[in-house]
Amino acid sequence: MNIISLKSEREQDLMRKAGALTAQARALAGSMVKPGVSTLEIDRAVRDFIQSHGAQPSFLNYNGYPASTCISINEVVIHGIPDHRKLVEGDIVSVDVGAYLDGFHGDCAATFTCGQVSQEAQQLIDVTRQSFFEGIQMAHPGNRISDIGHAVQTYVEAHGYSVVRDFVGHGVGQKMHEAPEVPNYGAAGHGVRLMPGMTLAIEPMVCVGDWHVRVLKDGWTTITADGSLAAHYENSILITDGEPEVLTPYGNL
Ligand code: MF3
Ligand code: CO
Repeated sequence: MNIISLKSEREQDLMRKAGALTAQARALAGSMVKPGVSTLEIDRAVRDFIQSHGAQPSFLNYNGYPASTCISINEVVIHGIPDHRKLVEGDIVSVDVGAYLDGFHGDCAATFTCGQVSQEAQQLIDVTRQSFFEGIQMAHPGNRISDIGHAVQTYVEAHGYSVVRDFVGHGVGQKMHEAPEVPNYGAAGHGVRLMPGMTLAIEPMVCVGDWHVRVLKDGWTTITADGSLAAHYENSILITDGEPEVLTPYGNL
């Protein structure tokens, strides 16, 4: 389906509920990021949390994906598969999670620090997060989809980092991935006009070095081609007549 769905008031409310649960799952995962904890332990806790609230992890079995979260450490940009690897002091740990509740998906991600991290790593995380907020500022009716990514890219590159091109944000709703694509790069003024009721997942993926990425033989794990650090930040949002609404409220994340 290439049609962009506009959510009704009732559907928006269901998206808020799915989004809130997804955001809580992200916070739970973040609270577990500590030296000695394995990524599989975090994944299990998130899965149990989502299921105990009557929802399903959106990622589990999606195109054969084997887990409920993506946990991507250091030079892994996205789609890291949880396993028995234990986190160590200084790691930066991107957790991406989706929950499907009452027919709608929430989708969000953030990069967390394991103990003390380098200044460079912390700055990368901060710039990646802020780039989302630069992007969402453009998420108003009348603007076009590429205005979002243009703002993300401009901010990221002003800080000397690069944005991934091979993966993009997306519409979100009854399916985890809906139209339209939401790139984090490109010229302003292109693509569909934003309209109230559109729900989008805006998700900048940012590299310290070059933006080229490589997918490992497992078919998922996506790393920076140059081995530089990467970070990821994502919220699901709703376009309204007024300010855009974050459906996966982030608290202090
Ligand atoms: N959350 C990812 C996204 O933002 C999708 C994860 S792919 C999966 O699009 F296979 F892990 F589900
Ligand atoms: Co997404």
